[in-house]
Amino acid sequence: MGKPKVIVTRGWPKAVEKKVSELFDATLNTNDKPFSVAQLQDALKTADAVMCTVTDKMAAEVLCVDGKQAKMLGNFGVGFNNIDIEVAKAESLVVSNTPEVLTDCTGDIAMVLMLSVARRIGEGERYLRGGQWDGWRPTHMMGTKVTGKKLGIIGMGRIAQAVARKAHFGFDMKIAYYDPYLPDPDSINKTLDAESRGSIEDVLSDSDFVSLHCPATQETRHLMNAERFKAMQPSAFLINTARGDVVDEAALVAALNASTIAGAGLDVYEREPEVTKKLTEMENVVLLPHLGSATLETREAMGFRVVTNVKAFFAGKEPPDRVA
Ligand code: DGY
Repeated sequence: MGKPKVIVTRGWPKAVEKKVSELFDATLNTNDKPFSVAQLQDALKTADAVMCTVTDKMAAEVLCVDGKQAKMLGNFGVGFNNIDIEVAKAESLVVSNTPEVLTDCTGDIAMVLMLSVARRIGEGERYLRGGQWDGWRPTHMMGTKVTGKKLGIIGMGRIAQAVARKAHFGFDMKIAYYDPYLPDPDSINKTLDAESRGSIEDVLSDSDFVSLHCPATQETRHLMNAERFKAMQPSAFLINTARGDVVDEAALVAALNASTIAGAGLDVYEREPEVTKKLTEMENVVLLPHLGSATLETREAMGFRVVTNVKAFFAGKEPPDRVA
């Protein structure tokens, strides 16, 4: 039997593309343009596995295409809300993701956003580069102190725990969180001197920063809505490195306009890559283009993790990161 045929839907780090080409009969996306629906359908019809990523919408119209050859989707990303998992299961498609390897880098970006929005980093840089700075003065660009403040976390999975560690041990922050699914809260509470709270509102009410770390599901869609912004302190900041759908972006704009909250640091958006224009006009908002895992080290590790899963599948073994 020849090598399994795989199609990679976007450009990947060179070292990973080299490995993919060695191990499989691979078609790479050399111009890195996102695939259209027709191209995704074609990939499923012509490859044994499709190595897709978070920008590929693997909905029923793609997954149920007639004449499908693919048996597996190796998703480049820990989040897999780009794939309709129920349909994938019904179509007997095996799906894997890339957990663990991006935990620290995504956690770092949450810290970057927290510090940037509180200390007015984006605004300060724009000011200086715009030639407006005429020297130090005692009242210039006063921000909000981060060290010692309370960090509220919604969803306490791997990335959230990494953020909590960085915030607690690096910035002496107090941690409060809500996660009804956490298997062993006691050990986290002890290690991080953290408080597990009984509801989202309990976390929002006294946190200085609220960082979102829940997956995008029907249950978490617009979890942060107008009511929940009102439940935050007017001096508090929202940080989102999870998924854009978790925040009602229109309600966020309204909350920022009304000073219901003090600011926001966002790496993900409801309609990526579109960003609500009003957000781009606000100085108290820091906006990043979905950079959570964007380091060479992490993106290579993510790619190799996909390779491990697809290789295992074609060797007749259970892919270690199988999610469907
Ligand atoms: C993921 O892996 O889900 C990220 O959003 C992309 O790194």
